[in-house]
Amino acid sequence: MKKSLLILTGHSQGLGRAILDNYLAKENFQILAISRSKLDLDRPNLTEVSLDLGELDVLESRMEELLPDGDYEQVILINNAGWIGEIKPIGSLMVKKLRSQVNVNLLAPMYLTNAFIAKYKAYQGKKIICNVSSGASHKPMQGWGGYCSTKAAIAMFTKVAAKENSDAEFRFFSVAPGIVDTQMQDEIRQASALDFPEIERFKSYKSNGDLSSPEQVASKISHMLENEHQFTEVIQDVRDFELP
Ligand SMILES: NC(=O)c1ccc[n+]([C@@H]2O[C@H](COP(=O)([O-])OP(=O)(O)OC[C@H]3O[C@@H](n4cnc5c(N)ncnc54)[C@H](OP(=O)(O)O)[C@@H]3O)[C@@H](O)[C@H]2O)c1
Repeated sequence: MKKSLLILTGHSQGLGRAILDNYLAKENFQILAISRSKLDLDRPNLTEVSLDLGELDVLESRMEELLPDGDYEQVILINNAGWIGEIKPIGSLMVKKLRSQVNVNLLAPMYLTNAFIAKYKAYQGKKIICNVSSGASHKPMQGWGGYCSTKAAIAMFTKVAAKENSDAEFRFFSVAPGIVDTQMQDEIRQASALDFPEIERFKSYKSNGDLSSPEQVASKISHMLENEHQFTEVIQDVRDFELP
């Protein structure tokens, strides 16, 4: 049986870790996982690459290693790594942090999407790119200028890529995962109320048990990618469907 390939960013914790575990449980997947930190799991079908996606020149120079050759049944790229960034109003942002956030949330997934299309376009079999966006891509939130903007931009980039590659075997998704109980939500709850007026609502999501678990969301994303013919739109939100 031919292997399938998953390239996943941001696998070291949170949603990415749950996506990793979900795909590790599937026997036919070879996984290449990219984060700054490694988990050092002893799994023969997993290759971990330690890379700072904020360092675009390094990413570019290592692209060949990140997109392996092989006779795969299907190839999937999940651009999941992301950063909420500095939670402050525009006018008080540190440019260095803003640049790093744009690199991680937008330019790195754009680079990877571009290289993935070039590399696997001629491949027979299913090819999927799933860029993790956010509900914040279409909802302006005070204090999240960099975050909302990068998530909106990656969603649009994904829609353009889909329009350019309407080949039935190529699918593109920009998926909002809902509000997930990860370190990113911890960071959000630690913002100052002056910089982030909606903080109490986000604290109440945690105290009321309203956050989704990373495992639930990972199962939904995996279901969507396995049954991609049932999901015709590029823009998806896991809150819009239930697992069968
Ligand atoms: N949690 C939510 O409620 C929520 C809501 C909407 C959208 N999202 C999106 O879901 C995705 C996953 O978020 P999460 O909540 O799981 O966040 P998280 O717990 O903070 O995990 C972020 C992941 O991204 C990796 N990462 C961050 N900066 C990186 C860098 N410079 N280079 C390489 N890897 C980097 C981290 O690994 P290292 O630190 O090891 O590098 C980590 O594995 C993100 O795109 C986020 O925007 C989350």
